[in-house]
Amino acid sequence: MKQTIVLALLAAGTLGMVSAQAADVRVMAANCAYCHGPDGKSQGPIPSLAGLDKGYFIQQMKDFKSGERPSVVMQKHALGYTEEECRKLAEWFAAVK
Ligand code: HEC
Repeated sequence: MKQTIVLALLAAGTLGMVSAQAADVRVMAANCAYCHGPDGKSQGPIPSLAGLDKGYFIQQMKDFKSGERPSVVMQKHALGYTEEECRKLAEWFAAVK
């Protein structure tokens, strides 16, 4: 009986994790929309993220973090994301048509 409950909890936990991961990148990307436009398609002077090359995107995030690329606000944002999250964001925005 105990074992069944443990297994059920494990299964629920795993399923929850999978759907949370799929939602994750969308939630993260939504944080960028305020400045970079919906789906990373900027309407103003801030550069668009949509369709940016994945490698370029990841490099910019690294350079913002280290300060190698001077920025007004992006260093603060970039520091909030792990390398793994930056890679997901890069893939996400690179895929936007
Ligand atoms: C408060 C506004 C703001 C938010 C929010 C924001 N950015 Fe930016 N972003 C900028 C500005 C402004 C620049 C231009 C560089 C600079 O001055 O900081 C920029 C530049 C960039 C660049 C370089 C683009 C290029 O063409 O070189 C990338 C990549 C980027 N942002 C990613 C992101 C990601 C990913 C998020 C969300 C996690 C995000 N930004 C959220 C304002 C913002």
